[in-house]
Amino acid sequence: MAAALRCRSNTPIMVSIVSYPPMHAAGRLITIEGVDGAGKTTLAEALASELAARGRAVRLLREPGGVRASEVIRALVTDAALTVGARTEALLYAAARAQLVQEALTPALARGEWVLLDRFVDSSLAYQGGGRELGIEAVRELNRFATGGLTPDRTLLLALDRASAQARADARGQTPDRLEREGAAFFARTGDAYLQLAAAEPQRIRVLDAGQGPEQVLAQALVALADLL
Ligand code: TMP
Repeated sequence: MAAALRCRSNTPIMVSIVSYPPMHAAGRLITIEGVDGAGKTTLAEALASELAARGRAVRLLREPGGVRASEVIRALVTDAALTVGARTEALLYAAARAQLVQEALTPALARGEWVLLDRFVDSSLAYQGGGRELGIEAVRELNRFATGGLTPDRTLLLALDRASAQARADARGQTPDRLEREGAAFFARTGDAYLQLAAAEPQRIRVLDAGQGPEQVLAQALVALADLL
């Protein structure tokens, strides 16, 4: 669009008014969130197959990780043998995220792909902002810098009570990582922060009942994504 303005000498100056499209006009960024054991990976894989069957180009990624530098940071930040302070932890997750955005997310979205991302900024808001008590707004600010403001088109939050999540995580039989060793109070604060985020942004963040079986959870996810499909 072009518009004519007049300067003091009354000479018209033509200026172009450019309306920028959203950062990822072509693709879709769908994030999956929840506490450990809520079934994020199972849902991400099922959703990827479902979307591919509907003809979408789908990319499945996880955080922290997804690209080499971020996978190295993942090993560091989850290492139970290391002492890592709350602020260091928030910065490491944000650093891994910044690299993923630059190297994988932005190009994939520009190519028109549907990116299904297992965790994103909301994980840091819940775990570091809530669980570690750094404050949601402080962690949000840090992540705005890390991501350049990239926001998911939709977020699926898998809600599950702590006892069921713990039972599922135990059933996997894996050694708990540094975060998974935290106590009940940490996970209560993290779960509360997730629900607080969902209440503040009900259009973006849809809460799914993760206590149901995998097929029902997939069905709930498809309903939550219906307007984007
Ligand atoms: P995962 O279990 O989903 O693979 O994630 C690894 C751990 O990292 C998990 O305990 C949650 C934690 N985490 C954060 O605390 N903040 C973050 O921003 C992310 C992405 C993960």
